[in-house]
Amino acid sequence: MAQDDAKRNAAAAAVDFVEDGMTIGLGTGSTAAFFVEFLADEVADGLLIKGVPTSEATQRLAESHGIPLLPVEQVERIHLTVDGADEVDPHANLIKGGGAALLREKIIADASDHMIVIADAGKAVDVLGKFPLPVEVTPFGFTITAKKVYDALSATGVSKPNVKLRELGQSGAPLVTDGGNYILDCACKAIPNVRETAVALSMIPGVVEHGLFINIARTVIIGDDDGAEILEFES
Ligand code: A5P
Repeated sequence: MAQDDAKRNAAAAAVDFVEDGMTIGLGTGSTAAFFVEFLADEVADGLLIKGVPTSEATQRLAESHGIPLLPVEQVERIHLTVDGADEVDPHANLIKGGGAALLREKIIADASDHMIVIADAGKAVDVLGKFPLPVEVTPFGFTITAKKVYDALSATGVSKPNVKLRELGQSGAPLVTDGGNYILDCACKAIPNVRETAVALSMIPGVVEHGLFINIARTVIIGDDDGAEILEFES
C-alpha cells in the first residue's frame, strides 16, 4: 500500500538520528510502529539504546522485538522521541491522539531533547483541524467538560465545532485510555488560532490533555512513495 510505503520511508529516515547510548521515546501508531521495527533491527546489530514507550501497545510491540525498555519512573533524560501525527502544519504544530495515546505521547515528547515527527505526505496540511482534535478528559463530569470544550473552541475561532465522546468500536461504551480517561473528538474543520485554542482547552477543569502539540517537534520527516523529506525547525 502506497501510504504504508510513505510511512515506512519516513520511519527509516528517522533511524539516522539515533546514536549509541541514547534513551529514546517510542511513539504510538502505525508510523511509529515502523520506526520501532527499524530500531529493533539496529538493536539486533548491536546498537545500545533504551526505549521509553508512550503506550501499552508500543510497550508490547517493543518488548516483542527485543528493544530494552526503561520504566518511565527511572528516566533521567530522553535524548530523542520519534512519533507519528494525525496532522502537521507548516510550523511543525501537530494534532495527535488518533490512537488515544496523546497524554503519554505529550509527556514524553515535551520532556525530550529532540522530538522527530514522522508522517506520510497525507498528514501535511496548511491549517490544522480537518482531523478531529482529540481531547482527553476525566470520566467524572465529562458531559460538563464537553460543553466547556465546545465553548473554548468557539471562543477561539472554531466555527460550529462538533464534540463527540469516542466509543470503543461499535460497542457504544466509551473508549478508555491507558490513563483511565475518556477522549472527546472535536470536529473543527479548521483551527485558525492554534495557540489560543490550546491555552483555552488547558484551562478547563476536567481536561487532562489535548492533542495540539505546539512548539514541541523540532524535526518533521514527511515520507512519500520514493523517500522522505526532512524539515528542521527552531524549538
Ligand atoms: C496516537 O495517539 C497518535 O498520536 C498517533 O501518533 C497518530 O494517530 C498517528 O498514527 P498513524 O501513524 O497510525 O497514522
